[in-house]
Amino acid sequence: MKRRIFLTLVAATTAASATMLAAPVAQAADEQIKIGFIVKQPEEPWFQDEWKFAEIAAKEKGFTLVKIGAPSGEKVMSAIDNLAAQKAQGFVICTPDVKLGPGIVAKAKADKLKMMTVDDRLVDGAGKPIESVPHMGISAYNIGKQVGEGIAAEIKKRGWDMKDVGAIDVTYEQLPTAHDRTTGAADALVAAGFPKANIIMAPQAKTDTENAFNAANIALTKNPQFKHWVAFALNDEGVLGAVRAAEGRGFKADNMIGVGIGGSDSALNEFKKPNPTGFFATVIISPKRHGEETSTLMYDWIKDGKEPPKLTLTSGMLATRDNVAEVREKMGLASAK
Ligand code: GLA
Repeated sequence: MKRRIFLTLVAATTAASATMLAAPVAQAADEQIKIGFIVKQPEEPWFQDEWKFAEIAAKEKGFTLVKIGAPSGEKVMSAIDNLAAQKAQGFVICTPDVKLGPGIVAKAKADKLKMMTVDDRLVDGAGKPIESVPHMGISAYNIGKQVGEGIAAEIKKRGWDMKDVGAIDVTYEQLPTAHDRTTGAADALVAAGFPKANIIMAPQAKTDTENAFNAANIALTKNPQFKHWVAFALNDEGVLGAVRAAEGRGFKADNMIGVGIGGSDSALNEFKKPNPTGFFATVIISPKRHGEETSTLMYDWIKDGKEPPKLTLTSGMLATRDNVAEVREKMGLASAK
């Protein structure tokens, strides 16, 4: 009897220590995966949302996410070194300058880190996309077309004579996705009968609201002939700059149709204002796919050696203040706020 109790105790203790040993080992295996998520403009709601969705992936898969804001080339390079020093195995990046492409690729290689890009695709010395780096971006030209079509439909609905309407085209030509977006918007407007000469280029020095505001102000000052205005840009922030500049000159909701791209807080806050503003609509794109899916793809690559697709282009949906909740729901973004 005594002997049986003794044996049972030994067995129980062995089993217990085996589980105690097994648990930390399994957890450690998960914890060992560390992924960086570097963004060019951490203060922009779009990038905050990307990070938020990347965190969701990190929680679900059990990896560590390291979020780094890198608004300059120098910061990008030190961020990559920093990730290597922390023993990360890979990173997802939206670079502050796509021309840093070859340098970023070389740095990642030297530090033995896997990399994929999001939003802004790296280019080589000749300005061609670096196709060897997996990338997820938006289908820029088509989304731009959705913007232009949305503006044209609203001009027609309001019964404006197109010859009296000026279009502020907030441009940022050094970024290919920005060029494609605003070109798509301008092409769609012209296809709908909008006079090409009424599209006023307003180059912004940086892709934020303040710089778009300054650029739009110049366009407005130089073109006092128009009775109404419309505006488009690469993102919501750019259109907001144009809308604020127009307001300053008396062009309010009745005389301004601004359509952005994004659908994060910059746009949502505008729609929440009690009275409509000139910010009429936005094409909502998916920070869920760009944050959660990219970091999951990186995780699978590190864990199982499965490389992400070389190119994924995501789509968007036009939303106004009237149907924004419905569109966010359709895009799987409703529960995110
Ligand atoms: C660029 C823009 C951002 C956002 C993303 C979406 O990076 O600067 O504002 O529109 O593209 O891919």
